[in-house]
Amino acid sequence: MAQTELGNKIDRWLLKKGFRAEKPLSTLRLIEARRKATDPLGFLSSRGGAGSVTKASKWGSYVPRGTGYRMFEPGTFPELPAIIAAGEAIYKRHETELNKDVNKRYFFNLMSEEDVATYPVLIDFALSKPVTEIATGYFGHVPRLHSLGIFYSAVNDTVAGSQIFHVDGDCLAQLKCFINVWGVESGGGEFTFLNKQQTTEAMRRTGLLKTITDEIVAKSVPPENQVHVFGAAGSGVFCDTSRCLHQGSRARERPRLVFQFQYVSRPDALLQRKGKVGGGHVHVTPALIAGLKLSNPQASRFVS
Ligand SMILES: [Fe+2]
Repeated sequence: MAQTELGNKIDRWLLKKGFRAEKPLSTLRLIEARRKATDPLGFLSSRGGAGSVTKASKWGSYVPRGTGYRMFEPGTFPELPAIIAAGEAIYKRHETELNKDVNKRYFFNLMSEEDVATYPVLIDFALSKPVTEIATGYFGHVPRLHSLGIFYSAVNDTVAGSQIFHVDGDCLAQLKCFINVWGVESGGGEFTFLNKQQTTEAMRRTGLLKTITDEIVAKSVPPENQVHVFGAAGSGVFCDTSRCLHQGSRARERPRLVFQFQYVSRPDALLQRKGKVGGGHVHVTPALIAGLKLSNPQASRFVS
């Protein structure tokens, strides 16, 4: 997301005008095209470098590009028990802050930058060889790890923001991973989505504008055919939330705690934001990983 101030200004203007004109997809395409044109070498190097990451990897086709998601069980990755323990520890550390002022009460991050170093298993897993190979295989280029966090969903009765069916407008393709730190059952605000093939161009458009209702979605894909990420602690999903219409955090009966990290395409369509909104993710930067002993010697290729 290394953007010049002028570039960022142009993109902010495009985003405002494009969404107001109800052309969100064309707008994102335009922003990414502008960024490709201003950094052709970065674009080419992310494409050229993918082969060396996925060569001889058993993980390269783990997330099918056709459906845009893959669920996994608690035994899939050896790090999952340590990830659950780290998520629990971060929750306990910040339990007294659950009522702090946050942007979205139904989904906010408890993890601080300091926690990243104290519980390195979380970022180490997000940048591990298997995960970077999964992400690179899915994108077909070397993507960027943008953010991570331990996200808490308080019990709530709202349908607002990301609780409404939508697609994420950060870029045209991304891969989010949600790992259940606590087991998720019905009433626990489960992440719910349509796969990439079921998510039509019209749904992407209205999903970006957040004007699509549950009823409209159900006419195309009834709730029983939507994917619900229920499961024990350590289960989870990789999902392209830019391409799969989704909602979550409708936690009506019990709270939810998940570890989430997010890979975005190069280029993405993200805008630099001034100031920090309470409860937002931890932004992954070279400074954040400096000094950490990461198991993947190639990890820094995925951070910029
Ligand atoms: Fe989302």
